[in-house]
Order: sequence, then C-alpha cells, then structure tokens
Amino acid sequence: MRLNPLLSQLRTYPQVALDQKKREVQRAGRALYDLGTGDPLEPTPPDIRAAIRDAVPEISQYPTVRGPLALRQSIAGYMGRRFGLSLDPEREILPTSGSKEAIFHLPLLVIDPRAEDRLVIAPDPGYPVYARGALFAGGEPYYDRLSDDFVQRPWELPTDVLRRARMMFINTPHNPSGAVTPREALQRTWEVCRDHDILLVNDECYADVYADAPPPSLLEVAKTGALVIHSLSKRSGMTGYRSGFIAGDADAVRAFAELRVNLGVAPQDIVNEGATVAWADDAHAAERRAVLAEKKRVFTALFEELGLTLVASQASLYLWFKPPPGLDDEQYALKLLDVGIVVSPGRYFGVTDAGNGYVRAAMVPPLAQCREAAALWRDVHRTL
Ligand SMILES: Cc1ncc(COP(=O)(O)O)c(C=O)c1O
Repeated sequence: MRLNPLLSQLRTYPQVALDQKKREVQRAGRALYDLGTGDPLEPTPPDIRAAIRDAVPEISQYPTVRGPLALRQSIAGYMGRRFGLSLDPEREILPTSGSKEAIFHLPLLVIDPRAEDRLVIAPDPGYPVYARGALFAGGEPYYDRLSDDFVQRPWELPTDVLRRARMMFINTPHNPSGAVTPREALQRTWEVCRDHDILLVNDECYADVYADAPPPSLLEVAKTGALVIHSLSKRSGMTGYRSGFIAGDADAVRAFAELRVNLGVAPQDIVNEGATVAWADDAHAAERRAVLAEKKRVFTALFEELGLTLVASQASLYLWFKPPPGLDDEQYALKLLDVGIVVSPGRYFGVTDAGNGYVRAAMVPPLAQCREAAALWRDVHRTL
C-alpha cells in the first residue's frame, strides 16, 4: 500500500537508551517514579464523574458540532470569572475533543497547500502537534527557536517568515518549559499577527495549572484574529475524556464549526455533561493547584540544595532545569533512571537543538511518591 509519506517522515525522538533502561528497572521489579509523561494521577472530581454517568442515554444520537448551549454558557461563565472576559456562547465558543484535536485541525482553516504563504509558526521546543497539524494540512512548519526565558518574541522573526505565515501557535503556559508570556508580550505578538494577517492561536491548556500567579489569556488582549484553546485534561483531571474548547474571533469560530461538520470529532454528549459541571466549578481546580504547588516545593527545594538551575517554570505541570555540569540532558536522565526516576531530556521536545541541555520533570506522581523520588534523587548526587 502506498501510504502518505508524512507518516514515515515524522520523527519521534529515538528514546532507545531511556526506554531500554526503563524496561530493565521494571523487569527488576523496582519502583518507577514517572515524572516523564504529563498525565496527572489525581482523581477526576466525583461530581463530574457522576454527571457523566447520569447522562448515559437510552437512545444514542449523534452529538452536534456546536455542542449543548448549556456547555457553552458554562464555558463563558468560566472565562468571565477566570479572565474577566465577556464571550458570546453562540458565536465565540466551540467545544472540542480536548485541545490536541483542535490543534491538529486548526491549520486546515487557513492553509492553502498551493500558496506560497503557508507557514505555520510554532514554538521549539514545543508540543509536536502544532507542526504535525501544519504538515498534514499541506502547510510548512516554521520552528521558532526559544532560549533563555523560553518566551516567543515573534517581532524578532525575519520579515520574510512573517510575510509567508498564515498561522502562529503560541503556548503560554508553555510545555515543556512552564514559561508564562507576560501580557505586554501577548499584546505585541497580537499586533505582529494583525499586521501580517496571521491567525494567532494560543494553546492555553495549562492556564489553570499554576502554583503562584494566574497566567493571562490572549483574549484579554484582543479577540480579532485570535483564538485560544482550553482543556479539562489538566485542569480537572480528565485526560481520558477528551474535552476542551476554542474561543475568540467569531469568524474563525464559525469557520471552524463549518469545517468540523466534515470531521466527526464533536465531543460526546455524556462528556459534554461532565464538562458543563467542570467549567462551572473552580474549587476542584484550586485543590489540584494546591497539590501541584506542594509537589513543586518538594522539587524546587531539592534543586536548590543540589545546585541545579531552574529555568522558566512559572506555571504548568512541569519544572524545567539544567542538568549538573559535566552531564548532558540525556546522560542525566539515564543516571536518574538508575534509581527509577523518569524525567524527560529536553532534546526530546525540540526539532532544533533548543531543548538540548535542559530536563523536564512532570509533577505527576502522588505527593508521597514525589517525596520518595526526591530522597533517591539526592542519593544520585552523592555518587556523581
Ligand atoms: C502544550 C500542550 N497542548 C496540548 C496538549 C493536549 O492536551 P489535551 O489532553 O487537551 O488534548 C498537551 C498535552 O500534554 C500539551 O502539553
């Protein structure tokens, strides 16, 4: 069978050494402390689960693309409380099956594969789906290489790149670095995109995952030409349910709804019922944040003691830091795996070399396990 060549071209980082060592630790029956994958282990709040269970219908029918109005109203309520925004649930909000599918499908909205101007700008290191969605839509990814504070500054990009771009993904709070883009930088980013007719999309799936100051939304700056993507995955512990939304520019939201008639990815109604409850409640998100802050304290105290440099890490599930002198990110990750601690070498998140020399730790295991992992981590440094 002749397959789409993109399928074989898309690179996943060869994690051979790390995967092999992980298997060895598991085979030896030793405990694994998985700070690798960003899939939190705290339970989904009981009232959300109950709403989903109670919604199972006797007769199953297709969900609508735009989802129930009650859900869009619940989302509008959340955006009002959280960011002080006033959004029209009829025109400016559209439920999605998590943020990933929205990210993957959004380039289809603006990319003409035959046009010269078909760049999609995405942060690097970054979530790989920005570039993948661009490629499958026939666009061309442009990797915006981040460094130092890991904030995107598109006004520093070459004019030719901006001229040929149709879409720009930004991601604040940022995976993998946890960097938060300040409001002034969001404003400047939006102005650059307005001047070049680029659809600006902020992936805000970590907007409610922070330990200190709440990160701003792009929509606080402007709605025209701007979309945000939100998700219940990390906010409400619902990665398995696939529930999120896009919001912002009414024309873009309408066009995306029209496009989605073809896709069959509208969230299921039972999930929508749970999502309506989840977006209406902030208390459970605050409780999850308190647990996250406690976990972060365990590791930031450890890093300080060990002299490891923390970089960015203002929000999100992640701590982003430099390995000790003499070890690169992958070598250090392998050392930590000796005692069963799994972290992600920064190079795994980059197409350029921007992630090299950094390590990401995801605050995923329960607090007690984080404390155990920190003790073992300290031991590793005694033998370095
Ligand atoms: C930056 C970023 N965007 C999107 C996603 C996908 O999230 P969702 O579960 O909402 O599809 C992730 C998942 O880890 C992520 O890190």
